[in-house]
Amino acid sequence: SSEISGDLTSVLLTEKQILDKIAELSRRIEADYAGEKVLLVGVLKGAVMVMADLARELKLPIDMDWMAVSSYGSGTKSSGVVRILKDLDSDLTGRKVLIVEDIIDSGLTLSWLRANLESRGAHSVEICALLRKPEAAKVDVDVRYVGFEIPNEFVVGYGLDYAEKYRNLRDIGILAPHVYA
Ligand code: PRP
Ligand code: MN
Ligand code: MG
Repeated sequence: SSEISGDLTSVLLTEKQILDKIAELSRRIEADYAGEKVLLVGVLKGAVMVMADLARELKLPIDMDWMAVSSYGSGTKSSGVVRILKDLDSDLTGRKVLIVEDIIDSGLTLSWLRANLESRGAHSVEICALLRKPEAAKVDVDVRYVGFEIPNEFVVGYGLDYAEKYRNLRDIGILAPHVYA
C-alpha cells in the first residue's frame, strides 16, 4: 500500500532478484548434497519466506523443522542475548543440517545457534542466509551459502520485520529513519 511504501526510502532487492538468487543457491546446495537427505532448520520468524521458497526450489529430499530464537526484541539493535522461544522437534543425531536464515547482522544469533545444533550430534551444520551485513559483524560466522551482502541499513520485507511489521512485503526495502526515530 502507499502507506507502507512511504515507510521505505528505497527498494534494495526486488522479488525477482530474491527468487533468482534462491534458485542460484539451490543449484549449489543440490550439488553439495547430491543423494543425501537434508534437514532444513528455519529460524522463526524472519526466515519463513526464504524457507518456503528455498524448500520448494530444491530438487532434493528434505525434512523441515523450525526453531524460534530471539536476539532483537522489538528494537533495531541486536542485544547479543539469544533465547530459545521454540525448540526443534527433530533429533539431530547424524543429520545433515542446513540452517536457513533471512539475515546475518551482528552474527550473534547464528554463531550461537550453530554451536548449539552441533552439540546435539549432527553430522554437519551449514548455514544458508539470504542477506549478510559485513559492516555489522561482531563475530565471524562461517556461512556456506550467502545470497547478498548488503550495506548496514535497516532492511524490512520478505520475512524481515521492524517491530513485527513489513514481513509480508515481497521486496526487501530500506526502512526510512523517521519510522524508528
Ligand atoms: C533477526 C534476523 C536474524 C537475526 C540476525 O531476527 O531474522 O535471525 O535477527 O541478527 P544477528 O546476526 O545480529 O544476531 P529477530 O531476532 O529480529 O527475530 P525475528 O526473526 O522473529 O524477526
Ligand atoms: Mn530472525
Ligand atoms: Mg526481527
